Amino acid sequence: MAEPAAAPIIEVQDLTRRFGDFVAVDAVSFRVERGEIFGYLGANGAGKSTTIRMLCGLLAPTSGSARVAGFELPDQAVRVKSSIGYMSQRFSLYTDLEVAENLSFFAGAYGLRGARRRQRIDYALEVAGLTDRRRALTRDLPGGIRQRLALASALLHEPTLIFLDEPTAGVDPASRRSFWRLIRQLVREGTTVFVTTHHLDEAEYCGRVGLMVDGHLTALDTPAALKRTHVPGTMLAIGGDLSVPALRSALAGQDGVLDIQPFGRALHVRVRGPLSDPDAMARALERAGITGADITPTEPTLEDVFLTLAAGSTRQNEL
Ligand SMILES: Nc1ncnc2c1ncn2[C@@H]1O[C@H](COP(=O)(O)OP(=O)(O)OP(=O)(O)O)[C@@H](O)[C@H]1O
Ligand SMILES: [Mg+2]
Repeated sequence: MAEPAAAPIIEVQDLTRRFGDFVAVDAVSFRVERGEIFGYLGANGAGKSTTIRMLCGLLAPTSGSARVAGFELPDQAVRVKSSIGYMSQRFSLYTDLEVAENLSFFAGAYGLRGARRRQRIDYALEVAGLTDRRRALTRDLPGGIRQRLALASALLHEPTLIFLDEPTAGVDPASRRSFWRLIRQLVREGTTVFVTTHHLDEAEYCGRVGLMVDGHLTALDTPAALKRTHVPGTMLAIGGDLSVPALRSALAGQDGVLDIQPFGRALHVRVRGPLSDPDAMARALERAGITGADITPTEPTLEDVFLTLAAGSTRQNEL
């Protein structure tokens, strides 16, 4: 039976995967709506790839249920696989093949034939920006272009939903931006994107973000709502040569200091009440002997959200 158009494209209930006694993914529940860019974040080992492998029908869940692109897992895994695209975390192309040979191989694997096969390979070459380099050896391509080719090859069969597992890992910043332009273009064309990344700036491009900590889905919301909920108060960036302990002792006993974290070369101080005013903060620091600190109000970032939520992680807490 056809799915109602408004049904979520992914619906997951209590999805769990154990490896022996170890629970890699622990009773995770969420929905992804059609046309969303859904970001799935978490430190190394948090359970992101394990979730994706289950949702792509590649790994059986230990318990729980998932409906993906209109099909039930694990029973309809074969139909899920043919409806979705998957770009795995490990490089999936054959580096010793030419660009066109790689695309031909994947087109064959997806059962594409004749005119449609040629048409889709041409589309993929265009997406990867490799129309003029179809005879290039894949291993000779720069990393960013190879990742575009891997994405293009996962799109050959026109999936409505695509899973991208760390597609920009190890890619330079300019190529990352161009990769994200491509993702946004796919979404405009009607594709739903499920993406994992360690780059929190990229998570800002996602409509909603789920945060995995030690196999648990700890938070799920839009980037703006995550910041409002988990990083309350006003954020001040304090520059200068200050350490967290020095600032902590300077502000000891002051009301309204919620949190102090290093952030790049500055410190991010989250405050409530009178100290939220940069001038009041400057005066408080001067009273403690710290003069000339550069204080600017700043927006919280998803990194601030992550630091707050992952504080209790037992696996790792670095994205
Ligand atoms: N086949 C397996 N057998 C045993 N343990 C596994 C297996 N696959 C994954 N794990 C463990 O499950 C946990 C979650 O792994 P997963 O690959 O899902 O993490 P991740 O969030 O994708 O991490 P990363 O950011 O490093 O890719 C890890 O501790 C990993 O070692
Ligand atoms: Mg992974």
